[in-house]
Amino acid sequence: RKPATVSKLRKMKQDRQPIAMVTAYDYPSAKLAEEAGADIVLVGDSLGNVVLGYDTTIPVTLEDMLHHTKAVTRGAKQTFIVTDMPFLTYHGSIDATLQHAGRLMREGMPQALKLEGGAEIAPTVHTLTQAGIPVMGHLGLTPQSVHQIGGYKVQGKSAEQAQKLLQDALALEQAGAFAIVLELVVEDVAEWISKQLAVPTIGIGAGAGCDGQVLVFHDLLKYDAGGPAKKFVQTYANIGETIRGGIAQYVEDVKLRKFPQQKHAFQGDNETLTSLYG
Ligand code: KIV
Ligand code: NA
Repeated sequence: RKPATVSKLRKMKQDRQPIAMVTAYDYPSAKLAEEAGADIVLVGDSLGNVVLGYDTTIPVTLEDMLHHTKAVTRGAKQTFIVTDMPFLTYHGSIDATLQHAGRLMREGMPQALKLEGGAEIAPTVHTLTQAGIPVMGHLGLTPQSVHQIGGYKVQGKSAEQAQKLLQDALALEQAGAFAIVLELVVEDVAEWISKQLAVPTIGIGAGAGCDGQVLVFHDLLKYDAGGPAKKFVQTYANIGETIRGGIAQYVEDVKLRKFPQQKHAFQGDNETLTSLYG
C-alpha cells in the first residue's frame, strides 16, 4: 500500500472517498494504525491528555511532540503522518516559528504539520507551505485556546459564528493548507464549509458532511483516557478492560506461584552450577 500524499488526499475529496485519520503517539500504536489502513496518522497534542495525563494540551512542549513523533514515524513508515505544532510554538516571530517547524520536520520526520487557528495564522501557514511544509489547519473547537473559548463547547451555533468559520477556512485554504480539521462544529455548518473548499475537511464531532473523520486512539479503543464518554465518539474496542484484565491475571498468577512455570525458565548443565558454586 502506498502512503497518501497531499494531492491524493485532495483527489479523495473529489472522488468522494472518505478519509480516515486516527491519532497515534508511539511505535506500537502507529504500527497498528498503519496495519489497520488509516489514511493519515496524526501525532496529536492530545497526547497531553491521553498519554501524559494533563487536563489540557497547553503543557505539551516541542520536546514532547518530537519525542512522540519520532516513535510514530518509526512505527508507520508507509503512512502519511501529521504532527501538531504545540501551544505557543507558532505565534512569535516567523524565525522562531520556522525554527520550531524545522525541528519537527527534521528530527521527527512527519510529512506535515497541523496548526490551530484561522485567518490570524494564515500568513504563518503561507510561510510554512512556501518553505515546502504541508500544513493542515484546525478550526472550530481549538483546544490550545480552551481558556479563551471558555470550555470544550460546540462551535458554529450562530449564523455569525458560522460565517466566521467559513472565512477562516477559506483564508487557510488560500494560504496553502492542504486539509482542515473541523472540531466540534455544528453538522450543517461543517457540511456547508466542506462544500465550499477544494481541500478536504476532516471532522471530529462535526458530523457526516466532512470529507474525512478523525478520532483519538484512546477514545475509539477505550484505552482508559479518563473522562466521561463523549457524544461524538464511537468505541470500537475496549482495550483498557483487556489490559487491566491481563495484568490482574498476571499479578494473581505471581502471587499464587502459577507463574513462571518450568517452561519459562532456563536450565544449565551441572558444569555451570559447579563453576558458580564450586
Ligand atoms: O490532538 C489531536 O488529537 C487533534 C485531533 C483531535 C484533531 O488535534
Ligand atoms: Na491537537
